[in-house]
Amino acid sequence: MTATVIDGKAFAADVRAKVAEHVTRLKEVHGITPGLAVVLVGEDPASQVYVRSKGKMTVEVGMNSYEHKLDADTSEEVLLALIAQLNADPAVHGILVQLPLPAHLDSDLVINSIDPAKDVDGFHISNVGLLGTGQKSMVPCTPLGCLMMLRAHHGSLSGLNAVVVGRSNIVGKPMAQLLLGDSCTVTIAHSRTKDLPAVVQQADIVVAAVGRAQMIPGEWIKPGATVIDVGINRIDKPEGGTRLVGDADYDSCAAVAGAITPVPGGVGPMTIACLLANTVTACSRANG
Ligand code: GUN
Repeated sequence: MTATVIDGKAFAADVRAKVAEHVTRLKEVHGITPGLAVVLVGEDPASQVYVRSKGKMTVEVGMNSYEHKLDADTSEEVLLALIAQLNADPAVHGILVQLPLPAHLDSDLVINSIDPAKDVDGFHISNVGLLGTGQKSMVPCTPLGCLMMLRAHHGSLSGLNAVVVGRSNIVGKPMAQLLLGDSCTVTIAHSRTKDLPAVVQQADIVVAAVGRAQMIPGEWIKPGATVIDVGINRIDKPEGGTRLVGDADYDSCAAVAGAITPVPGGVGPMTIACLLANTVTACSRANG
């Protein structure tokens, strides 16, 4: 079998086009322009690339982008004061604090200081609790993007065996909640899981979110299963230079799977598209 390639880039372009239409409607009908504030502390190069890309796409769909770049040694007090100011600003409908934060800052404290209604990452403890109990919440962008692609490919996910490899608060745990919400039978596997290959082999849906390059080989995949690859890892090429790869070994998995997301061009573009969608949702909710 050769897997169907799930084109996250095209999918994300479609989501962004729908967001842009919604933004136009909000402007025309309510006179409101949604605004997204992104806070970056320090100079982590990967974070700088993400933040730039988020800002560019925010403007492209017609929203206002507010970037706040703070020095790496910014105190918690200063950061919390900025968040309080953004919470109170009616022009700001979404707030994102880029992670990871420098080690001297308490990420949980910072994230939980964001107004949950503006928490477009869905990381605030209130949103985590709402998602876990099936209530209306802000849903983390990466798992939301994965779910949208899975629904589009499968239609109903009801009764399917889903194995999420990785237990992070950003991806693994919320992904499992979303799949459970769509009536999958869900397993969260991680670095301590016994006989990981046997666990993955049971899966109709594998979500790879461990952050280890090409860790999941095709031999672990049940023929016809869907592989959603959240990993973005940079590896050296034998001929020199580097390239991006996922957490699944693409070639061997694509030979067995029914469908697979590529890296790059799979989950990545969907994450930013979902961030824009969450911002429009936050703006609509704030304005009745
Ligand atoms: N760093 C890596 N991924 C994310 C994300 O989805 N949101 C934030 N805020 N930081 C990140």
